[in-house]
Order: sequence, then C-alpha cells, then structure tokens
Amino acid sequence: MIEFVNVTKRFEAQAVLEKMSLTIEKGEIVFLIGRSGVGKSVSLKCLVGLLKLDAGEIRFDGRSTAELDEKEWMGLRRRCSLIFQNPALIDSMTIYDNLALGIRAMGLAASRSNERGLIEREIAQVGLDLSLLKRYPLELSHSTQKRVSVARALVVGSEALLFDEPTTGLDPINTARINQLIEGLGRAGRTIWVVSHDMHCALAVADRILLLEGAHIAADLTPKTIRSSNHPLIRQFLEEADARPLH
Ligand SMILES: Nc1ncnc2c1ncn2[C@@H]1O[C@H](COP(=O)(O)OP(=O)(O)O)[C@@H](O)[C@H]1O
Ligand SMILES: [Mg+2]
Repeated sequence: MIEFVNVTKRFEAQAVLEKMSLTIEKGEIVFLIGRSGVGKSVSLKCLVGLLKLDAGEIRFDGRSTAELDEKEWMGLRRRCSLIFQNPALIDSMTIYDNLALGIRAMGLAASRSNERGLIEREIAQVGLDLSLLKRYPLELSHSTQKRVSVARALVVGSEALLFDEPTTGLDPINTARINQLIEGLGRAGRTIWVVSHDMHCALAVADRILLLEGAHIAADLTPKTIRSSNHPLIRQFLEEADARPLH
C-alpha cells in the first residue's frame, strides 16, 4: 500500500532521509519509532506531498507520487489522511461543520441526510457521543478533539491513516483509549502508520515496529521479535519503557 524506495530528503546540507526504504502492506499497523528530530514527521509529510523529495520514490497503492497532478494529490490525501499531533479543528465551527467540510469540498455526499449519516457513523466509530456534534472544539478536551480529527479522516473514506505522535501529551487513560482506537481501526482493515517515540504504544498495538536512525530504517521488528534485538537504540527504548510502566 505504501512504499518508500531510496527516499532522500535534505534541508540545505542536512540529509534527514538518505535512501530510506520501507513497505507497509494494506491492513498493517506499523509504528515508526526514533529519537526526536530524526525525521519521523518529515517522512509522513513526504508521503502526503507536503514536502518534496530530493531523490528516490514513494508509491501509494502501486502508483508513484512523482506522476501525480494536483487533482490526483487531492485524491491521495483523501485516501491517505495525515492526523497531526495538534487536532487543528476550526474553532469557530461546530464539530458537525468541521466534519462536513471535507465531505462538501470533495462532493462525497449526495444529500444532507446522506452527509449526516456519514458523520454520525464515524463519530460513533471513534467512540464519541452524537451530542458532541453541536459543540465547538474549544469546549472539548484535547483527547476528544483528537478523536474528532480521526473522525474527520474517516468521513472522507480514508483507507490509510497516518498518525503523528497520537498519544503525546495525553494521560495514561486517554493514551490507552487512543491506542485501542488505533488498533480497532487497523483490525477493521485500515492501513495504519503511526509515528511515535512511545515504545509502550508500539508494543501494545503494532504488527511491525520500524526504527528510523541515521536517515534510514535501521531495524524492522515485531513486538514478538523486538526483545531479541541487539540494536543499542532499540535496547534503550525498551529499557526506558520497562522503567516506566503504564500504571
Ligand atoms: N521545513 C523544514 N525546514 C528545515 N528543516 C526541517 C523542516 N522540517 C523538519 N526539519 C528538520 O528535519 C529534522 C527532522 O524533523 P522531524 O521529522 O520533525 O523530526 P521527528 O523525528 O522528531 O518528527 C529536524 O532536524 C528538523 O529540524
Ligand atoms: Mg515529529
């Protein structure tokens, strides 16, 4: 579903990604972990076209993004939603209108009742009450806003969801809830790519855990195989996670 082939991304002299390759299959839940500033967010932004590559290729569903025109980029961003660390809802609009924006921009609902049906289905899917639809973003907690931002991706029919640090800044209870939501979406067949520095989350929900280090994928592991890894940074992440139990 998602392929990076020798992707290189530089900022001036700094090569953040250098011949970075990875593959994420349809329906997989993959965590990309790595130290702060190593290029995790940059890799997500390259996929959705917010940053241009210096070399290499990214393929989505078999198609190279280098070939896409503006309209096709819009299509890719609908099928593959990037969910930012900050929910970035529009504060002056109700939750309903925030969710309707994408549907209307893309002409996805044949009628208003169709639109409401779509929105109600996905707000329930992310575990929220329909009464929230009348509320405004600033009336809601950060973690509820986060769920709304996930619903915003679901209403436009995204098949792949990219999460940038989804649990950063959340308390342990809401962290566990967001992890369950991510896992549920993955088990329901969506392709999930989570960027995180939280090994607990990766161990709890990932099918595969990739380590970004030295501008490329330095380890490709699973929650089962990771404890036998000799990679010093993997060992360090595991030790930190073990020293900081969730509850
Ligand atoms: N738009 C940009 N212009 C210049 N440098 C950038 C830009 N975006 C990211 N960087 C640099 O790229 C590196 C990787 O950033 P990022 O992907 O945000 O790290 P993280 O792994 O913490 O998500 C950092 O050194 C950052 O300063
Ligand atoms: Mg980041």
